[in-house]
Amino acid sequence: KNISLNIDKALGFVSKEQIYAQEAKANECIATLHNGNGAGNDFLGWLHLPSSITEAELADIENTANILRSKCEVVVAVGIGGSYLGTKAVVEALNNSFDWLQADRKNPVILYAGHNIGEDYLYELCEILKDKQFGIINISKSGTTTEPALAFRMLKKMLEDAVGKEEAKHRIVAITDAKKGALRTLADQEGYKTFIIPDNVGGRFSVLTPVGLLPIAVAGINIRELVKGAVDMEKNTDISIPFAQNLAAIYAATRNELYKSGKKVEILANFHPKLHYIGEWWKQLYGESEGKNGKGIFPASVDFTTDLHSMGQWIQEGERIIFETVISIENPDHKVIIPTDKENLDGLNFLAGKRVDEVNKMAELGTQLAHVDGGVPNLKITLPEVSAYYIGQLFYFFEKACGISGYMLGVNPFDQPGVEAYKKNMFALLNKPGYEKESEAIKAKL
Ligand code: PA5
Repeated sequence: KNISLNIDKALGFVSKEQIYAQEAKANECIATLHNGNGAGNDFLGWLHLPSSITEAELADIENTANILRSKCEVVVAVGIGGSYLGTKAVVEALNNSFDWLQADRKNPVILYAGHNIGEDYLYELCEILKDKQFGIINISKSGTTTEPALAFRMLKKMLEDAVGKEEAKHRIVAITDAKKGALRTLADQEGYKTFIIPDNVGGRFSVLTPVGLLPIAVAGINIRELVKGAVDMEKNTDISIPFAQNLAAIYAATRNELYKSGKKVEILANFHPKLHYIGEWWKQLYGESEGKNGKGIFPASVDFTTDLHSMGQWIQEGERIIFETVISIENPDHKVIIPTDKENLDGLNFLAGKRVDEVNKMAELGTQLAHVDGGVPNLKITLPEVSAYYIGQLFYFFEKACGISGYMLGVNPFDQPGVEAYKKNMFALLNKPGYEKESEAIKAKL
């Protein structure tokens, strides 16, 4: 089985003919990706990444993960953007939601740092780590990003103070560029185990490199299944696959047609709270890839039914500039039957004997029909179940579709010049050496 895409409930807004009229353009964009002759072509390492991962690479990652698993009750994944979102998406989707409360848990708890500069967050993290055996996976492609560098400086000191410099070396792994950046220099000097992020794989496309695979393996998740799913989707969205059967091409063409028709916001929705961070990962992928040159669909995400009680009103009746892409799960992992109640004071006996998922599925169907009636086109991506294999498929599907979609939109989907603006201002405001001119200029604006 594979994940599937259903666009039927978008066809009242853009026609099938309109979408299929994009076939030649989509095929041209796929060819541009595969021939490597488009904008950002030095960042196409993700394209054949799943099928190029070797047994030796997987074994090296698993061995390193096992060392951390044997030594640590907590492993802190330090990173921001593409250097943590994929991990968090997989770990939250696949591990027990209450894992950290289980006394007999088999896997180290994965905590996160370096994805914000919240002083209270860092304080509370350090407090909780005080009496824990912990390790650190420090992830930064550039090796110079401020947020993770700052968090790592603190956590490294704390770990060295707790277990000594020598033992700390065995509990710290660095994932960074092969040659460049402060993290590379530091890791080489300290003698940490390192993994390389290939030059030609951008942060948001890096979940299937050691960036994601190592912490995901530490969390006890089968990374071979994740990679297998991605390999199968790599085949299913290959250049040889005709447009009508290529999920990634259809998704790219449909969302671009919707965009042209005035639907400027795409909301990725799920009905399973464990998928929340899949939405966060997806927002980075599409937001950073397409939001440039004054163009791009704004990617938003919601968790249903939770957010039907907050954002639901806006989605149903607000400005009609949105479309919705729902990630639907055919079979949840567990079965929960609603009990009968003699008194029936809550009036819910009509649901007794049914699975909770049956109620959830009716909420999903009811929402789809209501939103379509309310003028919101609806796309549906169905996963047979939430497993490493299907998440692997989903990751590659979204990556491939993103490359195609960005080219269809006419932008370079592989750069992110806009993320530098805040950094420049922050450094100027903090008087970073080398930013003297900027400091003067920005202070004049205050
Ligand atoms: O997509 C990107 O490249 C960025 O958002 C990065 O993922 C993020 O800035 C983290 O960068 P780095 O891994 O270099 O620390």
